[in-house]
Amino acid sequence: MFDFTPDADLPKAELYRQLIQSCDAITSGEPDAIANMANVAALMAEFLPRLNWAGFYRVMDGELVLGPFVGRPACIRIPMGQGVCGTAASDAKTQLVEDVHTFPGHIACDAASQSELVVPIVRGGIVLAVIDLDSPDVARFDAEDAAGIETLAQLLSARI
Ligand code: SME
Repeated sequence: MFDFTPDADLPKAELYRQLIQSCDAITSGEPDAIANMANVAALMAEFLPRLNWAGFYRVMDGELVLGPFVGRPACIRIPMGQGVCGTAASDAKTQLVEDVHTFPGHIACDAASQSELVVPIVRGGIVLAVIDLDSPDVARFDAEDAAGIETLAQLLSARI
């Protein structure tokens, strides 16, 4: 059994340190990308409060395809450049969206989502996948969340 339950009310920096340490431990030595993304999705959902969706889209043949996640069923394929995820993938750049209703072309998979953080996972200059977090709260994510998930994306670039 794995028990990575974080302490309640940790400062954000410490929460991300523990999340990344747990993701490192659970993916270490495991070559299967889907297994690693599934466990990391579960850990993100467990560690990070106020989320309604946490997971991955993979770049497959020039489009994004739904990967492992925790949350409600979601759109399966997203063209590159479309929505928050497609923009993060095509620009290879983190998208921090305080209010999804103001993002042109936002794709609503769960009507509860109000804010979103999407971080690309890049290896050798190629975007392999994106990490997508959705929150039912407006402005749930800040620069510290973006930096924490970017560190996680770096770790995963060699493990997916
Ligand atoms: N909102 C995303 C689509 C994926 S769901 O949030 C799970 C987007 O605009 O790309």
